[in-house]
Amino acid sequence: MANRTPLIAGNWKLNLDHLQAIALVQKLAWTLQDGKHDHAAVEVAVFPPFTDLRSVQTLISAERFELRFGAQDVSEHESGAHTGEISASMLAKLECSYVIVGHSERRQDHAESDAIVGRKAAAALRHGIVPIVCVGETADDLEQHGASAVPVQQLRDVLAELPATGEIVVAYEPVWAIGSGKAATADQAQQVCQALRQVVAEVRGDEAAAATRILYGGSVKSGNIAGFMREPDVDGALVGGASLDATEFAAISRFQQ
Ligand code: G3P
Repeated sequence: MANRTPLIAGNWKLNLDHLQAIALVQKLAWTLQDGKHDHAAVEVAVFPPFTDLRSVQTLISAERFELRFGAQDVSEHESGAHTGEISASMLAKLECSYVIVGHSERRQDHAESDAIVGRKAAAALRHGIVPIVCVGETADDLEQHGASAVPVQQLRDVLAELPATGEIVVAYEPVWAIGSGKAATADQAQQVCQALRQVVAEVRGDEAAAATRILYGGSVKSGNIAGFMREPDVDGALVGGASLDATEFAAISRFQQ
């Protein structure tokens, strides 16, 4: 994992209203504190729905919790006639550190292309927010092209929309592993994450590739996280279902123990 700080990110998806969000963040912070979590050694971040962000921001800043947070999506536009959209500048004002872009559920439900995902990531970078760029193959892609081909091409196409510099995080989430209870093996994740790092090296240079964090996502649990984290090119996890349970998510964040 070189010198990259691992990132354990919890994508809550379409779950929890702002009151439930407050309860979960409190419990998570206390659980991590009780477990003497070293936030400098492993970064922990939550990704609530838009409507929860202000409450989460207020709580984290009032209590000085060392948790990071971000949004699950962002508009590619800055402002104007785009009903229902949320801009990167609005998220920056809420102190979001990260934004997830290109999650397979958005690609599927909202027909988001790699070009759109790239423009969303570029919007985030313009406002000092680190985009977490999601890529991953479906079960059909896996059967027809193997695991790496589709995510590698997706990442190339997204990076084509971005400036050459500015921190990004990449999340490899095989679509067949999401919410299925059937995670990739650590070895499968490593192979694709290595191929993705190679793409970053080709497009942004070796130094950027060595510094870029690449996460695995798809049915991550406290029982399988350690295996992923032992792989040299896996720098953390993007966790869905298991991030809704504070005890389980804290246990994932303590993968070293
Ligand atoms: O973004 C996280 C994700 O899609 C994985 O979901 O429920 O399989 O951990 P889950």
